[in-house]
This record gives sequence, C-alpha cells and structure tokens, in this order.
Amino acid sequence: MSRLINLPKRELIDPYGRVIKYLRLSVTDRCDLRCNYCMPKGFNGFDVPKEWLTFEEIERIARAFAILGVSHIRITGGEPLLRKDIASLVSRIAVLPGISDISLSTNATQLARHAESLKSAGLKRLNVSLDSLDSERFFNVTGSDSLNEVLLGLSAAKQVGLTPVKINTVVMRDTHDKEIQSLVEYCIAQGFILRFIEVMPMGNTGQSMGWVDLRRIHDMIRTQYGLVEADFENNKGPARYLTSSDKKVSIGFITPMSQHFCESCNRVRLSVTGTLYLCLGQENKVELGTLLRAGATDVELQHAIIQAITMKPERHDFLESPHKIVRIMAKTGG
Ligand code: 5AD
Ligand code: SF4
Repeated sequence: MSRLINLPKRELIDPYGRVIKYLRLSVTDRCDLRCNYCMPKGFNGFDVPKEWLTFEEIERIARAFAILGVSHIRITGGEPLLRKDIASLVSRIAVLPGISDISLSTNATQLARHAESLKSAGLKRLNVSLDSLDSERFFNVTGSDSLNEVLLGLSAAKQVGLTPVKINTVVMRDTHDKEIQSLVEYCIAQGFILRFIEVMPMGNTGQSMGWVDLRRIHDMIRTQYGLVEADFENNKGPARYLTSSDKKVSIGFITPMSQHFCESCNRVRLSVTGTLYLCLGQENKVELGTLLRAGATDVELQHAIIQAITMKPERHDFLESPHKIVRIMAKTGG
C-alpha cells in the first residue's frame, strides 16, 4: 500500500516569524508625475532600460516566489502603465500556480485606455494614488494638470469591473479638511475604498515634506460620517479601517510614522533592475537580477530568495533615523 508522503509546505518565514506572502514588483522607476513627496522636479536619475528586467526575467523571479509560498503579487512603479505592453506581464503572472491575487498600483493618468486590457489579462483589483480632487492643488502636488484623465481612468476601472478600487491619499501638512471631505464623499459615491497615508521620509523629497499624524483626521471622519472601527479580522495589511454599519463605506489609515505596523509585515519588493528590498525603511537588499543574469538555475534562485528572507529587518526606524533612506519611493516600488 502506498503511503502519502507529506512534503513540507513551502513557506518563506523571516527571523521574526512573519510569513512572506506578498511580492511587490516594480516594472519601471519612471513616472509621468512628479509628486512633491516622491520625485524631485527635474529628476533624471532613472535606471537605464537595458538594465530593466525583461518580462521573461520578472516571470521567472515571480514563479520562484510563488513556489516558495507567495500568493499575492502587486505590479508597481514608478508608474507601471508606462511600461510597454504591461497587460501581457499581468497575464503571465495571473496564471502562475500559487498566485491567487494580482493587483496593480497606478496614478491612473493612462488608466482609461488600459483598464479593459488589464481586466482581460486577469487583473483583479487596483490601487490609485490621488491626493486631491481640486485641479489647482492636484497640479501643485503632481506638477501635472491631468486630474481629469485620472478621473476618467477611475470611471473606466469601475466600468470594466476592477474591484475593489482603492484610492491612496498621501496627507501633507497643507492638505485641507475640505479636500479630505470631498475625497471621502467622492469615494462613498463611487464605491471606492479610500486610504489616507502618512508621508515616509524616503529620499530628500519625503524627508523635507514632513508628516501629519492621521489620528485627528481619523477622529474627524469617524464622527462626521458616523463610522465605527472595522473588526480586527478585516484589518489585514497595513491599513486600519473605519466602516459604516452596512459595511458599504470603508476608510483606511496607513500610519507608518505615528503607529508602525512592522510586526505584521508580510511583503518584500523587487525593483525594475532586480534588486530585492527587504524593507522600505532599511538598506537590506539582494541583487536577484544580477544572479539571474549570471545564469542561476531556478533552484539557485529559490535558495537566494530563502537566504534573502533571513535578512529581513524587524522594522523601519523612520522616526529614529529620518535621514537614512536616500532612495525615493519610485526606486523601491511604491
Ligand atoms: N511616503 C508615503 N507614501 C509615498 N508614496 C510615494 N512616496 C511616498 C512617501 N515618501 C505613495 C504614493 C502612492 C504609492 C505608490 O506610494 O502616493 O500612493
Ligand atoms: Fe509618480 Fe507615484 Fe511618485 Fe507620484 S508618488 S511621482 S505618481 S511614482
């Protein structure tokens, strides 16, 4: 009689017992916007295209992570929709065994013409960065007058059934309560999930921006819209949510500065040149792209990933060492 052999379950577990389930893949460090807190005006220190991982290389790395238990992949940038034929990368990743969730973060300036192909390629859901619905302030933050394109992109996403759509709003010192309220009302009307984010001191841009403790805004929204704290089990990931009693409204708060959430961190990030960053707020990294290009086999790649996870830091120290991280978010994969 044959006996079933229980193969050990493949999992990436870091030195602090956190299970790594989530890989963020940056497909370009370029962007068509210049958000104040992210990319310096006139920035041109971009990676050169010949060093970008090809879609074949990205797929090989993603497959290795999937074999090791990663189940969620998010495509990011810079602005990922600037990478040519991005939907074809989505379709390659969507069918990898073990990947049950594929998502994308975008600034949505080009989303209107990509929404349908992304949906057909197997994309499930979308995060959109949007800091203001006021066109003048949108221009002041991003250096671009493309608010209308962003709103058209968002309607297209809704139309093709990408769901949920999450709107990420970075709160700056000069963000007005009125803007916060119009974002809340827009998201309620559209059925989008809204999340407010504290600025992290990444690069000169993030460091000179300063950050705003979101507790006051949290309390203001809770009272004004009659919301309650969501159950803890719905609180996976870095955001803490307020919801309405019918659960139709969801407003999240991502507070890396005032209340960090490192103890539940389940993610790592791969840059467009194949650098694996173990933490947004630390320098620990492994050059997986170089390894791949030196001819590593799939098994060698998997070993390098397992080894890399042993270097995942316990937490960022943005508060204690606010000048430590010189790379901007677009380099790491935001
Ligand atoms: N701090 C917090 N969020 C940032 N983003 C970019 N730079 C920073 C920063 N320094 C956000 C963008 C977007 C996501 C990709 O990262 O607004 O929502
Ligand atoms: Fe571009 Fe996003 Fe950085 Fe803004 S925050 S400049 S949209 S990468």
